[in-house]
Formats: sequence, C-alpha cells, structure tokens
Amino acid sequence: MKILVTAGPTRERLDPVRYISNRSTGKMGYAAACAARDAGHEVTLVSGPVALPAPEGVALVRVESAAEMAAAVFDAFPRQDLVIMAAAVADYRPVEISEHKIKKQKGDLLLRLERTTDILSELGARKRPGQLLAGFAAESENLLENARKKLASKQLDWIAANSVADGFATDTNTIVLLGRDGSETVIGPDTKLRVAAKLVDMITSPGKTK
Ligand code: CTP
Repeated sequence: MKILVTAGPTRERLDPVRYISNRSTGKMGYAAACAARDAGHEVTLVSGPVALPAPEGVALVRVESAAEMAAAVFDAFPRQDLVIMAAAVADYRPVEISEHKIKKQKGDLLLRLERTTDILSELGARKRPGQLLAGFAAESENLLENARKKLASKQLDWIAANSVADGFATDTNTIVLLGRDGSETVIGPDTKLRVAAKLVDMITSPGKTK
C-alpha cells in the first residue's frame, strides 16, 4: 500500500525568533512510518520539526507550520491508499506574524490567534472509495468518548485513542484503537515501535473489521 504518515508538532511563528508549538516528539509517527516500511509498504512521512533522524527507506517531507503540513498532505493525498495522522497539528496560529522581534512593553500582551485548517477533517471530506484514514486522539479526559466523536466527525476509518493525562513525550505508549464499526482494541503498554507495528498491522490487514 501507499501510506502517508504525519508526525511531530507544528510551529506557528510569532516573529523571527518566537513560535507557538507543543511537546510532541514525533516518536509515535516515526515509529508508525518505520513499521509500515518494514511491513513492505511505500511510505511518505510528512514531519514537523523533531530531533529524530530521517528513517531510511521512507520519503521524508519536512514542514514547519500547520499550513505547510496541510499543503504537503493535500498534495500527496490523491496518490495514497492510507493516511495515518499522528502529527500534533496546531489548532490556532497567530493572526499576525511580526516582521521584527516583538519588543516588550509595559503591561500585558494579548495575542490574537486564528484557527488553522483541520487537515484530517478535510481529508475525510475529500477521500474517495477505498482510501483509508486513521487519526490519533490525544485526550487528557473522557478518552474513549472524545475519540469516538472525532472518529465520526472527521469521517475516519480508525482512531487511536491516546491518553495524555500522564504526559506526552514518553518512549512507551498505550492506545485504544477504535474502528468505524465500533471495534475496540487495546494495544500496549509497550514501546512506541511495537505499538506502532501492531497498529499498522491492524489497519492494513484486509478482512480485519473496522
Ligand atoms: N488534526 C489535523 N489538523 C488539525 C488538528 C488535528 O489533522 N488542525 C488531526 C491530528 O493529527 C489527529 C486528529 O486530528 O490525528 C485529532 O487531533 P487532536 O489534537 O486529538 O484533536 P482536535 O481535532 O485538534 O480536537 P481538540 O483539540 O478539540 O481535542
């Protein structure tokens, strides 16, 4: 299969030296890309800024902002059989990017933020029959309930519900893989690599229920 994986955080620029981002390390997405490659698939990895080495045998596209990630994903999407969105995409970006370093003033500074494109929702609206979409739901409360809502609203085939109550940037992980048909499979706790291998296997195996 041709598989597109996204990974890592995005950075939303404020001025030449500052940005808004999150604590994603990209490890889960990189693990998914490597697992898919090892299973014999043709893998494209669209990655936000991370400290991880480029995986061998994977076409790597580096991006910085949510808008750049959206452009790279939309460009590649028509050629993909499956998209796994593991990236922690910013939901908001500064309305204005200052050309010069913002100088401090007396008193508080108010930042105005605007919504970014929800990449996965857009893919859900665009997908053609046969294309599969898998997302991640990072939740600190009501894990399965919130994940199910995202599965439905973004028109996904699978969603990996991922509790971030105990933190975000860790080496191990436990996910609950929810399928469109109501299936529910706990994967882990295990290393992100082994969790990713099982996830990719379940999503790509024909005949497995969703
Ligand atoms: N996602 C995306 N584009 C965005 C935001 C999120 O494609 N602008 C994708 C993520 O890659 C993930 C899924 O949507 O696969 C769910 O992301 P998450 O941050 O858990 O949820 P949100 O949709 O951002 O909703 P909320 O922040 O309200 O929990």
